[in-house]
Amino acid sequence: MSVHLDKAHCWHPFTPQDAWCAPGHDPIMIARAEGVWLWDEQGNKYLDGNSSIWTNIHGHCRPEIVEAIAKQAATLDHSSYLGLGHPLASVLAEKLVSFFPENTLERVFFSDNGSTAVEAALKMSMQSRIQSGQGKRTRFLAFDNGYHGDTLGAASLGGVNRFFSRFRNLGFETEFLSSIGDLGSIDPSTVTAVVIEPLIQGVNEMRPWPAGMLRELRDWSSANGIHLILDEVMTGFGRTGTMFACQQEDVIPDFLCLAKGLTGGTVPLAATLTTGEIYGTFLGGRENAFYYGHSYTANPIGCAAAVASLRIFETDNVFAHLTGKIDHLRKSLSKLSQNDAVKEIRQCGLIAGIELAEGLGEKTVIAARQYGLITRNILDTVVMMPPLSITEDEIDFAFSALSKSLGYQ
Ligand SMILES: Cc1ncc(COP(=O)(O)O)c(C=O)c1O
Repeated sequence: MSVHLDKAHCWHPFTPQDAWCAPGHDPIMIARAEGVWLWDEQGNKYLDGNSSIWTNIHGHCRPEIVEAIAKQAATLDHSSYLGLGHPLASVLAEKLVSFFPENTLERVFFSDNGSTAVEAALKMSMQSRIQSGQGKRTRFLAFDNGYHGDTLGAASLGGVNRFFSRFRNLGFETEFLSSIGDLGSIDPSTVTAVVIEPLIQGVNEMRPWPAGMLRELRDWSSANGIHLILDEVMTGFGRTGTMFACQQEDVIPDFLCLAKGLTGGTVPLAATLTTGEIYGTFLGGRENAFYYGHSYTANPIGCAAAVASLRIFETDNVFAHLTGKIDHLRKSLSKLSQNDAVKEIRQCGLIAGIELAEGLGEKTVIAARQYGLITRNILDTVVMMPPLSITEDEIDFAFSALSKSLGYQ
């Protein structure tokens, strides 16, 4: 089996490698997937309770996306997006901006993952200030315990100290807010942008923001000439019950950062959307261009997967079915909350955080594997964020596995 090669040569993210490589640790090696299900090398079957780290939307190996990927791989696998274009990137960009009113978000910059989607927005915001006579706007505002990715710029806006404190003095100058109540003490004249995960903070143990807060932040940032960067890397593509979280508070940002679910959770691709006004500050000659990008920018296979995934939202009428699933999740969470081990339940759409008594988070997700559920904990919060394609019966399966792993029933 492949485990000994993994332990000899691989290095996993966010993982204490000594425990991973310890002789007694028998890691699960996922070999196959279909729908909401994953199979390991031994043929054991698990429900994918966190959508493979919040990426999967329509279930794994969805035939329409697989076919689109295969067709694209056989037609144009990759070509540079520097000085060249390709048809599917154009189609995808047009489709993404079509979710917003005309003359709002109208330009799409492609990259590879959530961190680079945010990184691009930060650099665009800064550079646009320099090129529009507002060079003193050099600072960013971000929220305590927020998470925007691991590249240095995105990490400097990250408020999760256990990940970022070592690198705190590198990157962008950032002031952290605990809530919008702190805005009153800010000098807005030196701020270029404020960044937030709309409606719910993910890595901060799935904590929803108060209703109306996003709208207030939009109003404040508009009134003070500050760009609003929405990091919808987790919340995008239906997770919160609407295509994008910002639509629930009628907010249109200056930058919208998308990744994870953009390709339905199949291959890496990210997009940073921005307004014509900001794009306009990058015109006027070579020296104003945005000198940022990656070798695989707008990879055609990724674009094909994304276009196919967006089409499935229409053919499956995803949003018509989502409300019932969200209600079913709410009822299942409420039932689970009767267990003494559950301290608090937090939900936003098809995203849930189940906060357990101290010390139970990791134990519970490990125990759940033997009942056929794979998910992850963040500290003592167990994440339940299944693919949108999950059925009510599959939700019941996941909660039965969770209940058993809490010693309940
Ligand atoms: C809100 C948010 N932003 C950015 C990122 C970074 O995305 P990636 O891991 O694709 O770089 C994440 C990842 O979990 C996220 O949740």
